[in-house]
Amino acid sequence: MALSFMNRLSVRSASAVVFLMASACAPRPGSETVEASLVTATSEADHPGQAVYEQWCASCHDNPEASRAPGLDGIRELNQATIRYALELGYMKYQARDVPKDELEQLIDWLPQGEAEDDGWVKSASCPIKRRRVILEGAPRTAVAFGIDPHNNRNQSAEATGLSAKDMPRLELAWSIAFPKTPTMRSQPVVVGNTIFIAATDAGRLYALDTDTGCVKWMYASDMTLRSSLAFAEGVNGAPASILMGDAAGRVHAVNATTGAKLWVTDVKLTDVNRVTGAPVVLKDRVYVPVSAIEVNFTQFDDYECCKGQGAVVALNLTTGDKVWTGRTMPEATPQLISKAGTQQWGPSGAIIWSTPAIDEKRGVLYAGSGENTSWPATDTSDAIIAYDLQTGDRRWTFQATEADIWNYACGRGGANCTYPGEYHSPDFDFGGSALLAKTPSGRELIVAGQKSGVVWALDPDRSGEVVWSNRIGRGAANGGIHWGIAFDGKRIFAPLNDPNSSYPNPNWGPGIHALDVETGAIVWSYKPTAADCDADVEPGKTTRPAPEFVLNPIAAPIRPQSRQVWESWPPGTLAAAPQRPDVSPSAGSATPPPARPARPCRLGMSPAPLVVDGAVVTGTIQGMLRIFDGASGEVLFEYQTNKPYPDTVNKIEGHGGGIDSHPYVAANGTLFVQSGYARFGEPPGNMLLAFKPKKD
Ligand code: HEC
Repeated sequence: MALSFMNRLSVRSASAVVFLMASACAPRPGSETVEASLVTATSEADHPGQAVYEQWCASCHDNPEASRAPGLDGIRELNQATIRYALELGYMKYQARDVPKDELEQLIDWLPQGEAEDDGWVKSASCPIKRRRVILEGAPRTAVAFGIDPHNNRNQSAEATGLSAKDMPRLELAWSIAFPKTPTMRSQPVVVGNTIFIAATDAGRLYALDTDTGCVKWMYASDMTLRSSLAFAEGVNGAPASILMGDAAGRVHAVNATTGAKLWVTDVKLTDVNRVTGAPVVLKDRVYVPVSAIEVNFTQFDDYECCKGQGAVVALNLTTGDKVWTGRTMPEATPQLISKAGTQQWGPSGAIIWSTPAIDEKRGVLYAGSGENTSWPATDTSDAIIAYDLQTGDRRWTFQATEADIWNYACGRGGANCTYPGEYHSPDFDFGGSALLAKTPSGRELIVAGQKSGVVWALDPDRSGEVVWSNRIGRGAANGGIHWGIAFDGKRIFAPLNDPNSSYPNPNWGPGIHALDVETGAIVWSYKPTAADCDADVEPGKTTRPAPEFVLNPIAAPIRPQSRQVWESWPPGTLAAAPQRPDVSPSAGSATPPPARPARPCRLGMSPAPLVVDGAVVTGTIQGMLRIFDGASGEVLFEYQTNKPYPDTVNKIEGHGGGIDSHPYVAANGTLFVQSGYARFGEPPGNMLLAFKPKKD
């Protein structure tokens, strides 16, 4: 039996059990499963793994806001293989290294909740025979890449999607599906004909589903947690069409799009800290793969020899998976300083690539955005847009937006792994989102990219990335500014901000979205969500136009180190506490009032990359609010809170929505598909794919 998601989330400590008992007094969806969970909870309390958790893990995972770790509810949704990998080889290798082996086994036994593997539902949710075949011949390629087109504009037409801006106000939930063992929905699906290919990345599962009903055509089970958004590739040289995606161990999988069978898996790691986060992109017989890393997670340990991990773009042969070239962002790391803790330091490192490259076939290059350096010395390739030659992988030119940005988890806490000679700063101003190549109404081409500094940059592709305009629209932060990307409708750039909630000297700053005129960078409209999104009794957000002095705030590149006091004196992000959403509040009318749960902050940040559909701009907040705007006027066309339970899914697994983040949307066949759930950085976990269609008149 599949337990309900909420119930599974709640069975963890004595106080949570009390809360469950109290809330069990009032009927609510799935209430018959509550008793079952309680039984588990009681026996669970005796499980030795829980004490191991309290001793070694709770300090961070019980404080997800402060530690940026997924909450315990999120990690308990993962399957055993994913947890084992995290502790033995992945993110938590250092956090877990001193845990005695037997205790580690107890922990790995206790953490995953519910059934060990949860693929049983796939059979009962299979499509009827006549709909089960994935048909590619003659089927429209509605959305085959992260960027929709090779230039990453993320702009879908009404003609291609069967969905127009006029339909948006009439959207309603048509069906939904919940994925087991999945607290985070991070990977943008692809759609061909009536098949949507979608990954439940944490569970390491890729599915082909029917776009009309959500029934399952095939499932691919990876031996490793998956990670990136997907790409669809036509078969070349007699090979079948494939779905491509990156995993948590720095490998790329190619899966037969018709059958779900594995075609090849290629390791693109430079060192063992690499993973693949941005989506692979395909041009003819090549796959271009951006390479990221997780090394910053280890740097808080003073005896960790920081750092050797670096970014790259790797080109593969589409048919065989063989490597064609590796375009590094810097030379290999060599021994450098000895840290103040006496540990050997390595460098240069970092400039990893989180984003999905844009392909510029005309100029024979691709544009990849890089992250900060993670150790000394800094390079001129960090926080940069790098143009790589498509044929050779050589770097043709580099535009560096922020100079000498050396950041890792030791920074800000005076750790030994973040103390270096000379001038540097640690704002962590990556290009996390993808650069796009825009063709403006006046016919000129611009590379446009948003940075975590809160700056949108427009560069000249014919003059080695020279700045054409820039506009600092946000405050910026390690997790703020423009986080996962922007979109372009032919006239306007849509740039959401994931700045922390706070009050700022510049009214543009803070969570929200701005539409910028692509010719000049000037803001044409702005929208800022308010705590009304979390049911607080305040005015809802509204669309505004900034006062003239705030329309354009150009900034010179590169941003150089300022005195550290300047960065740190910026207003700290204070999180507005807001009432809980009704679905997570203790039930009204309980006989005994349940103990108060800590108020969840109402986080308004807009982190995911937007998507344009027929001129409407689809956006989301990290607290789960889906909001669609008219791109020209900024008028709100549709709002829907996804952070809630979904008891009636097409696969009969009770689901729960959560934060909307990363790359969560795609439109096809008259349907807007939205993913909800993101167990990172204190955001609410969830496991949903939601399919919205316009109401019939
Ligand atoms: C010092 C803080 C800290 C401690 C202690 C810690 N973690 Fe984590 N953990 C994190 C952070 C931060 C992340 C998220 C990493 C990211 O997404 O960049 C994380 C991620 C994870 C993940 C998800 C990995 C993935 O690939 O999705 C698991 C599982 C996990 N931790 C388990 C544990 C366990 C079990 C322990 C105790 C042995 C533990 N952690 C101790 C901070 C910590």
